Amino acid sequence: RLLIVDFGSQVTQLIARRLRELNVYCEIHPYQNVTEESLRALSPRAIILSGGPDSVTREGSPRAPQALFEMGLPVFGICYGQQVMMEQLGGRVEGGHHAEYGRAHVTPADGHSLDGIFAGLFAESGREQVWMSHGDRVTALAPGFEVVATSPNAPYAMIVDEARKFYAVQFHPEVHHTPNGKVMLENFVRMAGFTGDWTMAAYKDEAIRKIREQVGDRKVICGLSGGVDSSVAAVLIHEAIGDQLTCVFVDHGLLRLNEADEVVSMFRDNYNIPLIHADESDLFLGELEGVSDPEEKRKTIGRLFIDVFQKHADRIDGAEFLAQGTLYPDVIESVSFSGGPSVTIKSHHNVGGLPEKMGLKLVEPLRELFKDEVRALGRELGLPDSFIGRHPFPGPGLAIRCPGEITRDKLEILRKADAVYIDQIRKHGLYDEIWQAFVAILPVRTVGVMGDGRTYDYACALRAVTSVDGMTADYFPFTHDFLGETATRIINEVKGINRVTYDITSKPPGTIEWE
Ligand code: XMP
Repeated sequence: RLLIVDFGSQVTQLIARRLRELNVYCEIHPYQNVTEESLRALSPRAIILSGGPDSVTREGSPRAPQALFEMGLPVFGICYGQQVMMEQLGGRVEGGHHAEYGRAHVTPADGHSLDGIFAGLFAESGREQVWMSHGDRVTALAPGFEVVATSPNAPYAMIVDEARKFYAVQFHPEVHHTPNGKVMLENFVRMAGFTGDWTMAAYKDEAIRKIREQVGDRKVICGLSGGVDSSVAAVLIHEAIGDQLTCVFVDHGLLRLNEADEVVSMFRDNYNIPLIHADESDLFLGELEGVSDPEEKRKTIGRLFIDVFQKHADRIDGAEFLAQGTLYPDVIESVSFSGGPSVTIKSHHNVGGLPEKMGLKLVEPLRELFKDEVRALGRELGLPDSFIGRHPFPGPGLAIRCPGEITRDKLEILRKADAVYIDQIRKHGLYDEIWQAFVAILPVRTVGVMGDGRTYDYACALRAVTSVDGMTADYFPFTHDFLGETATRIINEVKGINRVTYDITSKPPGTIEWE
């Protein structure tokens, strides 16, 4: 295995992700837990030291155990990791000069050969674009090191001690904005002897082992939404601990057409997972009566969800853990960035608040993964492709696709229109090209003419976006033919809608959902 020593960078997980893409097994351990003993126990084949927010010039700032450099292992230091190496191996790091954030270019230093971990770099234009984010910098190299490349503000941007197989860079090779960073990481792992034979199947086995270790013979409950993340988490945990897991599926009456049946039968029939199907639609729709403010809707749903979940979970004797399908992007977004607390655009609902209230511990087996990796893991677990590829669906469900007051009639119309729209998208082979597509029913009625009669029905808006992570999004460029055909089908097949519009707002300034 490869050990990543985490000094607290926002992007440490990206190092792990890049390595998984290279089919190399790695583990991230916080620097506090890395000791001489733990190193011997882990016996890694190579080590990467991550970036971090601290300054090595500050007294008491994080360090690696000195033994790490004496085990004869290849070591790759990134940003703060580079500075730790220099500091501990006899070089010098200083602060108080020009900080460097964002895009920069590095060029090769005179006379150094570009092979080993730097092979294949600088081939195209003689320089490499890299992503920098540092205040301090190395000002004197440790004995044995040589400079490979420099940037205007980092004279020691890439350095190497070939004899000891120590490499270090001032920038972040793991981020997207360092286009050839993955070449460097690949060279490093090949040089360290990894053959790239690790797979998602192996990840699954490891995850199962960890769940068993954490849970022992105790019980776990899992809130199931029918979305990909909680489903993959549930199936994985079930593989690990079988019937010690019980799922609770709360139907709030705001699901799509046939969704509740599909989810419940998938879990009961295909996986035999104990599942409580809590039909609480009367409660939710009752409490939402007369509520039209988006935040009030979200808060009402969030509150009821917690109550209902707790009510059902209380009946499961001795549950000590709550399983959640938290992904890595959820983890990054939830930590506060240096800019301070961010503004709440929407109160996203999950089962947050429950663990403390019920005294439950969390099981979050997907915490290290990105969405596409969760899908790959789901495939590994045998979940059907049709299920794994499903578009994200928000916790508050159709409530936030029904601006204004929610009524059962409107929900009925919305479900039908949405089903026709998604059917159209699937028929045209566009489903997998789109991040998310849905219909919103608008709180306006408009006049139309059908046959010889006047109609006075609801207008609806179609939404379809492309996105990588839901944080930013662009509208999907359907052809006019597609839009025309879809509008005709919706108006013909769905009683209650007589006008169809297409939402072409990107995010930002819009959001994906309407509320
Ligand atoms: P917005 O509308 O904020 O949505 O651009 C970004 C992504 O998040 C989903 N979304 C939610 N998911 N609970 C969820 O689990 C929520 O409260 C929630 N609100 C929005 C939305 O569908 C999109 O994929």
